[in-house]
Amino acid sequence: MSKNFSTQLLNWYDRYQRDFPWRAVAEQPIDPYRVWLSEIMLQQTTTATVKGYFEKFITRWPTVQTLAAAEQSEVLSAWAGLGYYARARNMHKCARIIACDMDGTFPCSADKLKKLPGIGDYTSAAIAAIAYGENIAVVDANVERVISRIARIETPFPTAKPQVKAIIDELLPAKRAGDFAQAMMDVGATICTPRTPKCTICPVKTFCQAFKSGDTEKYPVKALKKPKPTRHIVSFAIICDGQILLERRPDKGLLGGTLGLPSTPWEVRDDFPGDNELKNHAPIEAPWQSAGQAPRHSFTHFHLETNVVRASLPEMTEIPKHEWHRNNSQLAESLPTVFRKMLDVL
Ligand code: ADE
Repeated sequence: MSKNFSTQLLNWYDRYQRDFPWRAVAEQPIDPYRVWLSEIMLQQTTTATVKGYFEKFITRWPTVQTLAAAEQSEVLSAWAGLGYYARARNMHKCARIIACDMDGTFPCSADKLKKLPGIGDYTSAAIAAIAYGENIAVVDANVERVISRIARIETPFPTAKPQVKAIIDELLPAKRAGDFAQAMMDVGATICTPRTPKCTICPVKTFCQAFKSGDTEKYPVKALKKPKPTRHIVSFAIICDGQILLERRPDKGLLGGTLGLPSTPWEVRDDFPGDNELKNHAPIEAPWQSAGQAPRHSFTHFHLETNVVRASLPEMTEIPKHEWHRNNSQLAESLPTVFRKMLDVL
């Protein structure tokens, strides 16, 4: 089974693989830096979104040494919009370790890669397989869906993860581990889609139990999710002469190290803080005017509802831990999406 499965899959991949800027091209040897950068970006983000960011990063920082030499604030601004900012902070730390302590060379096994910041089980396996050909299972959500259908796995995810890994271990070919991994991802993304999978054109349909039973959409079985709580805040847009007052967030935690609008604490509550609560949290005292409500923003573990209030100042007062920035489209682009939505209200 294993040999036929991988042969059919790899033959299909040779013809139909998706074209991405981080993938190998015939004339160029594969560059572990490009593989690493793309896999960090792809951890929680779609290929469609990552493409543009990958091109931007590779053009600006073409080597791990150039990325290591950048300021963290520059990297966070360039990352703005991709979300999960701990990824950017860890990526930058990792670049500095590789450039300063490892002579610019990425470790070549999953076990060694896993010791670096921001590189966990999935990413270490993906880099080792794609950049160095290590024979290792690479399991992302696409691969989980394909395998859960092939084997009609009844155990709900995430409990079923080790089962998927064990099946992939059986199916791995002796060579081309990286192509095998990316072929599985491509089948998952383009054929074995969550809804109405295109089974008739699937290269591995003859191995698929769910296809035989006609119940592909029953898989993957997922554990029931807890509903997300909602936090309500008021954010402060303090304007002076075309500039806006922003706050650099603490380095650790949610949106750590990024710039954003000052606000009331991000607490779970059913209503917005009232006018009487604003003066306890505003960076300055001012006559606040309502600017409107921003569209809801969803994080992994909660939804955020924001009321924006504004005030115009006659002069740019210096306020500790706050910075004045020209309020233009370039600024908006360098801020996390949650704050862009707040600026859009103004
Ligand atoms: N998702 C994560 N890594 C990927 C890759 N190398 N190709 C396509 N999709 C991916």
